[in-house]
This record gives sequence, structure tokens and C-alpha cells, in this order.
Amino acid sequence: MPRKVNYGLDYDDDYDDNYDEYDYRYEVDENANIFDLKSSRVSSTVVGRDEAVKVSSMRSDSSNLSTEKGKHNRLDEINILKNIEVGPPAGSRTSDNCSASVPEGWLDHVDESSVAVNLQSSVKRSLSLMPKERNVMVDDSSSSRNGGEANSLTSNLENISFAAKSGHSNDANPGRANSRAQYKPEKWMLPEKAEHSLTQLNLAIVGHVDSGKSTLSGRLLHLLGRISQKEMHKYEKEAKLQGKGSFAYAWALDESAEERERGITMTVAVAYFDSKRYHVVVLDSPGHKDFVPNMITGATQADASILVIDASIGSFEAGMDGTKGQTREHAQLIRSFGVDQLIVAVNKMDAVDYSKERFDLIISQLGTFLRSCGFKDSSVSWIPLSAVENQNLVSAPSNFRLSWYHGPNLLDAIDSFQPPTREFSKPLIMPICDVIKSPSQGQVSACGKLEAGAVRSGSKVLVMPSATIATVRSLERDSQACPIGRAGDNIAVSLNGIDGNHVMAGGVLCHPDFPIAFAKHLELKVLVLDGATPILIGSQLEFHIHHAKEAARVARISSLLDSKTGKVAKKAPRCILAKQSAVVEVILQEAICVEEFSKCKVLGRVFLRTLGRTVAVGIVTRIVEEQ
Ligand code: GTP
Ligand code: MG
Repeated sequence: MPRKVNYGLDYDDDYDDNYDEYDYRYEVDENANIFDLKSSRVSSTVVGRDEAVKVSSMRSDSSNLSTEKGKHNRLDEINILKNIEVGPPAGSRTSDNCSASVPEGWLDHVDESSVAVNLQSSVKRSLSLMPKERNVMVDDSSSSRNGGEANSLTSNLENISFAAKSGHSNDANPGRANSRAQYKPEKWMLPEKAEHSLTQLNLAIVGHVDSGKSTLSGRLLHLLGRISQKEMHKYEKEAKLQGKGSFAYAWALDESAEERERGITMTVAVAYFDSKRYHVVVLDSPGHKDFVPNMITGATQADASILVIDASIGSFEAGMDGTKGQTREHAQLIRSFGVDQLIVAVNKMDAVDYSKERFDLIISQLGTFLRSCGFKDSSVSWIPLSAVENQNLVSAPSNFRLSWYHGPNLLDAIDSFQPPTREFSKPLIMPICDVIKSPSQGQVSACGKLEAGAVRSGSKVLVMPSATIATVRSLERDSQACPIGRAGDNIAVSLNGIDGNHVMAGGVLCHPDFPIAFAKHLELKVLVLDGATPILIGSQLEFHIHHAKEAARVARISSLLDSKTGKVAKKAPRCILAKQSAVVEVILQEAICVEEFSKCKVLGRVFLRTLGRTVAVGIVTRIVEEQ
């Protein structure tokens, strides 16, 4: 039975995200120089295949808590902002006809994927993962989170003298000199050609609020046998009792009482099914604008995405609305995360009598917009369907009114995605999403997604930032013990020979000969999002990178970049306005695990937030000073 996974970021009940005028006007160009942000994803957690689990990130999952937190954050941020010189309003964007297509220079170090956005996250995981007497260290940095203080990573470091126990200080470690390019993987690290396991595909389900994302996901899971008939009956009965009969399928994913009562998804749900080609990890995102940060945390993991559209009259238009619609915003965000393969599921076709004209109108209007975001026509599939009436999901439509459609059904379209590329032959990198401790058994497990390389029992790993060497005792994937974990796998790595306090969410497991950097002074290339307040020298921002979050101050704005060429357009400007890109230096309150993006994408993708919204996305171009 699917349980819900929740990537709760810092939900702010005051958060009224105005991504609305987010019309980036990306250049319509097949080789779109898009500012392409492939997420180093928040690990979708390690869960049983037959379970969906909710992952909460910045807090344990309580909306009340988060509401409190939201208020708290807001106050802190307002206080901070009071002391900041106010720059020209976003509206005064002078001559910048700034296309938000990314300047060419951006792509100097960026290949097809690009900058990503990552959020600190801790995980609620499947019980089967937990040792019986586990003590889930959700790294209760709630206080720091709530108060906007230093993040959990650093607070956890308080009692650790850096590298004291390990004898592996950064200074002493010669590994920093090693180039990841020199690395030669051992034979066992590479997947055998003959291996018959399905490729994992992280699939983000995004789209405007109420477009039917959860209903579609629930229906798919049911059709594919992931939700039993008995469970479905239960959902139907309970939903009916609460007067929410139409949400029965959505209930499979919207698990919390508040979500069910409000009839909206608030946090990302993770569920699994197998198609012919893929082990699909479904990331059912919230569509409501208040939960955009949660949507981001899930979507940053995506290899591909389904953008769900409500075809009903007025609803498609609402999603496309420049000020309130999340269809446009979600499409832009996922493209920014580097997702370039998209299915547009035109849902609720039953509500428009399966009209071909309506479908064509949606293709024509949304298609133009998607092209402007940098999606290639050839990478976008358009599928008319009805989740409620089960039309065109896993088999050809049975309703004669859809007889005009001759394309693939949704499941076939999913199987048509190109497989994601994985960094099997690079040195180990696993950003730690969550830590499970069992003090009574003296066990500690680091959980997360292996972004590069491989591990197996007996492997030595370097745990950063404590710079401590540990030995892998055992591994679990999908709640099962497994002999080897490779890039792309979500795993729990049980460690021997390390004090539990030296393993923390926001840290990274890496290859002992290729330690990653630990730094607080960084140079970034950033793109300020449309509608965001200007970034000034001295601006205080939340800095997010893989699963870490840290308070940051903009120490320097080195240059503004020309949006077309990527070359320096102006040196030392006073501020960066919406849609402008720039090179800046930030100083973090405490050091974080980081790499230059050109060396390791997943540890070099950042985004900057303030006042409950994302104001800029970027990449680390230089580590100015290591700790
Ligand atoms: P958020 O997660 O809150 O953004 O909503 P959602 O996109 O997950 O939508 P959800 O699945 O909760 O469905 C919202 C409403 O749309 C429910 O009442 C569903 O029954 C209805 N709905 C979903 N799919 C269809 C469909 O194919 N046809 C019709 N007529 N209604 C649908
Ligand atoms: Mg939903």
C-alpha cells in the first residue's frame, strides 16, 4: 500500500509566491541556452517498492508546526531586511529586456543538465528500514530552521572538533589534490551489461492546483497493481464519508488529515511502479502556490516529468494565468532543473466531452510556452486522458469520443522516455539526506541517493564534513538488503567505525581519496528569478545546496552578465534585478560541503531564498576559500 512521502520544505502560511510574472521569455531556440538546473535531488528516501513514503525536509511533517515556522521565518527575515538598503524596485527593470534564457557563458561549465536546486531534507522512511530500537535523528534543527539560524549541519558540528578523531583534516588530506577525472573505477562498481534490473526513473508529476495529479498517480498505481482492490475500497469509503468522494484515488497519495480535509496535496508523495522499461519513482507534487518549495524539492530529483493539465473550460486558462497559474511556473521550474523530457497529460478530457478542438487549443497555447521555456517539440508528448474515467492511462481509450486520438497511452509514453544517465564511473558521492541511529546497537546509517560511484559492504568511505573514515557494514535499497549500491540508487548505508555524531544530514559520503570541499566563501553565478526583489551587496539570504541550508550574506557583486553572450556587461554593480544574471560572492554563516559545479554538479547547484520564496538559482563557480 502506498504511504506518503513528503518533502516538506519550509512551508510558510504567509507564503504567497508571486512567481506569477514568471514569464522568462526564454529564447525559442532548439539549442536553447537555457539556464538549466538539474537538481541534485533530495533523495526520495529509501522505501519499500510497495510503499510510498512522505519525506519531510526542513521540519518534521506537521502543518501546524510549519505554520508556526513560517511566521517565525517571516519575522526574522523582515527584521533582517529592515537593515538592508533597498534597491530599485523590480518594476524599475530598466532597459533589461532580459531574456531569461541563460547567457551563453553560463554554459561554459554546464552540460546538458546544469544547475540544480537542492534542499536540506530529512526523511520519514519506511518502517522496514528502521532498526527496531532506532533513534531517528531527524537532526532536530527545527529550532535553527524556525529561527533562521545556522542550519542543522553546523549545529550538529558544535560538539565535534573538526577531524579531531579521524586524523583526516582537509589540510592533511592529500586527496583534495586528486582530480575526479583521474579516478579509475573498480570492475564491481560498474553495472554488468547482463544485469536485468529495470532502470530507475524519477518522474515528477507537476501542474496547476487541482489538475488531477494525485488522482492520476493513484489511478495509475491502482491499475498497475500497486494499490489493491481492498485498499481502494477503503479509500473510496473513507473519502465518501468525508464528503470527498471524488478524491478517492488522490487519497492514496494525499495521506495527511489536513491534505484530505482540504483536498490538496501539501507535500510530495513518493510511490513506485514498474513499467516495461523502468522502475518508476513517482513524485506527486503539490500544485498549490503556497507549496512551491515542496514541489521544488521533489522536482529537483526528476529525470523526467508529467505536466498535468486540467482541460476543463476555465481551468486550463487559470493554470496559464500569468499571475496565479502554476502550469507556467512548474514548467519553467522543471526545465530549469534540467528536465527536458516531458509528457503533457491533458487530463479531465471527460469534462470537455473529449473534444479534439479543446485538446488542439491546449497544445497550441501551451506548446508555444513550453518552447519558450526551452523544451524541444520532439521531447514533449501530448496525451489526452481522463484519470477519473480511466481513459488512455495504460491502454488505448475505450471511449469512442476519443477515437480521434491514435497516439500512445500514458504508460507507453513513460516507456518512451530516454533513460537517465548515471555517473557510475566517478568517485563516490552521496549527499546525506537523513541519518538513522540506533544507539543501543551502536549503529548509524546514512541515507540518501548515490549521485556518483558505488559502494558495497567493506568499502571505506569518507564522511564529510567530519572528515572521518568509516567502513560500510551493510546496505539497504527499497527496504531490502543489497550487496552493491550504484549511482542512481536510493540507499541506506550502515556504517562501522564511526561515532554517530560524525554523520549528519547535509553532509556527504565520498571516496576517501577524493574528499569534497568544506567551505563558506563561494563565488556563484546566479540568475535572479522574475518577480524577485533585487539582490544587493549585504543581502541576507538562505543558501540551499544538496541537503544543506545555511544563512548567507552577499559579500560582493562582481559583475552583471550579458543575457545574450554571458560576457561581463557591467563590473561591480550595486544590485542585481529580476531576470539578470551575475557573478557574486557569498559568505555563509557556517561552512558547508560543496564543490565547484564544473567538478561535481550535484554539489555545485544552489538556490537562494528569502521571505519564503526562491529569488535566485545558481551554480558554484569558485570556492574562494576552503576551511
Ligand atoms: P493538488 O495536489 O492539490 O494540486 O491537486 P491535484 O492536481 O493532485 O488534483 P487531485 O487529484 O486532488 O484532484 C482534484 C479534483 O479533480 C478531484 O475532485 C478529482 O476527482 C478531480 N479530477 C481528477 N482527475 C479528473 C478527471 O479525469 N476528470 C474529472 N472530471 N475530474 C477529475
Ligand atoms: Mg495532489
